[in-house]
Amino acid sequence: MRDVEPGIGDILLWGVLPYVVLAVVIGGTIWRYRYDQFGWTTRSSQLYESRLLRIGSPVFHFGILAVLVGHIVGLVIPKSWTDAVGITEGMYHVMALGIGAVAGIGTLAGIVLLIWRRRTTGPVFMATTANDKFMYVLLVGAILAGLATTAISVFDHSVTNYRETVSPWFRSIWILQPDVAAMAASGLSFKVHVLWGLALFMVWPFTRLVHAFTAPLHYFFRPYIVYRSRDARRGGHGSTPTRRGWDPIGTPDRERPGTRRR
Ligand code: HEM
Repeated sequence: MRDVEPGIGDILLWGVLPYVVLAVVIGGTIWRYRYDQFGWTTRSSQLYESRLLRIGSPVFHFGILAVLVGHIVGLVIPKSWTDAVGITEGMYHVMALGIGAVAGIGTLAGIVLLIWRRRTTGPVFMATTANDKFMYVLLVGAILAGLATTAISVFDHSVTNYRETVSPWFRSIWILQPDVAAMAASGLSFKVHVLWGLALFMVWPFTRLVHAFTAPLHYFFRPYIVYRSRDARRGGHGSTPTRRGWDPIGTPDRERPGTRRR
């Protein structure tokens, strides 16, 4: 498995690049938080079109969440642990393939619908920047490359087992002892997928994807765009009493004790 002697290219790609990516993600996120909090948003286009968004967005988000959970299990849990509890390699792969295929295809279907909506709904397309387009290329590329690795491993049995190559390399990064040889020994499809994933992480803080790092978490469950509704109990029609400054928007974190409820 480890008969590949890593060259300088391997050292740069699998020993240095991951730390460059980590530095850019952490540094970029701090920078964005300090200088662009008003831009910390999905730049929702719900006002322009909501019918397709209501289908595409949950399909994509639930799919990508399941893909994320699959990556955590596949990359973080060592093979020796699943062996120890009696899960054979065959059982593991049938499970991973079944759940991974549904999650991956769901993610792809969701993003295809969202991009189709973006391209065909005039105002949504007009609101799409070059930054968005670049991000979509990296996002769709990472998803397609991931699905391709899974498909190639199913049909080509000579491909190395990622739980003996990619996963040990992934874990070794976090203990600051990158196992370059492990990743160098993995198949080309894994290398392409991982590089594509790293490229996506590099641009993450500088794109709309930054919304995934949002707290408080109720943000994920609130409407795409927060409207201030008219309060029928206070007379309903007409405008709210004039008051200088911004109105609280009525989301739970705004309603801390001592905050005036409206
Ligand atoms: C450095 C980061 C990453 C590593 C090490 C990694 C590793 C892997 C591996 C080893 C597989 C094969 C799983 C199998 O054959 O069962 C895989 C599949 C996949 N990956 Fe990644 N990946 C990374 C980033 C990403 C990113 C950023 C995305 C999407 C935005 C992504 C989406 C997918 C998809 C859709 C699959 C197909 C299987 C599934 O649906 O879970 N990956 N990845």
